[in-house]
Amino acid sequence: MNTPSAVLTGTGLFKSYGMARALAGVDIVVTAGESLAVMGPSGSGKSTLLHCLAGIERPDSGEVLLNGERRERGVPPDEVRGRIDQLREPARSELRRTAFGFVFQSGQLLPELPADENVALPLMLGGTPRRAAVEQARQWFGPLGLQGLEARRPGQLSGGQAQRVAIARALVGKPKVIFADEPTGALDQATGMEVIHLLTDVSRRQGAALVLVTHDANVARWCDRTVQVRDGRLAEAHTESEAGAGTGAGAEANAGYRR
Ligand SMILES: Nc1ncnc2c1ncn2[C@@H]1O[C@H](COP(=O)(O)OP(=O)(O)OP(=O)(O)O)[C@@H](O)[C@H]1O
Ligand SMILES: [Mg+2]
Repeated sequence: MNTPSAVLTGTGLFKSYGMARALAGVDIVVTAGESLAVMGPSGSGKSTLLHCLAGIERPDSGEVLLNGERRERGVPPDEVRGRIDQLREPARSELRRTAFGFVFQSGQLLPELPADENVALPLMLGGTPRRAAVEQARQWFGPLGLQGLEARRPGQLSGGQAQRVAIARALVGKPKVIFADEPTGALDQATGMEVIHLLTDVSRRQGAALVLVTHDANVARWCDRTVQVRDGRLAEAHTESEAGAGTGAGAEANAGYRR
């Protein structure tokens, strides 16, 4: 069976840090627009997998392919259609800025910039003039329930508000894939779920795929699909166990849960 709408494909991914083997042969496909939860015990390799897929780190062996169309600027299109893992750091950096968005656990906003400029930053780094970038950035404040907070510094925001600003920043460049590594790890349960609802909802509406690392089964339940990482390998998750179709029992349950 082919995967016509794969946006990212990782094949045979291995990664070690000294004696520690973080990835021990992972094959994974991220489909355009889907939300994929990555679960597994601490130290199993979830963040390493995310970093390899996102071009933050290079795997020791294996391939990461971005199956996107050509990007506007900077990166040669044949490279972009090909292997991320073989790009040099400047090209990977450009790719991360233009094709991907990132949400981490916390501490990702620049403390000296107001919220709207934090969101505008990826656009400004791409050459959009400050005024236009901030104007575009502010359009995300309403949908993310942040209206009125545009001028606040990160230190003047609650944890949940700061994460919503981080989500706005991840989305502002219209990425193909959003990578989120335990984005609710520093939030209480209720605030965390609010953030997850917004993150999955705006990603879906934006047509961005979401790769979401989480320890929380309630969070994973909001994704279309879940994979489990164990000792650097993917273990089949129950949501994927049905042959053939992209909608396992979990996805059906999720669809019901969402309504
Ligand atoms: N920069 C690094 N240097 C050395 N070892 C590392 C590094 N990054 C990860 N590791 C090791 O690789 C393995 C996988 O780490 P990784 O961070 O991917 O786990 P994880 O599943 O994200 O864990 P957690 O849930 O605690 O965040 C662990 O044994 C870890 O100690
Ligand atoms: Mg981790």
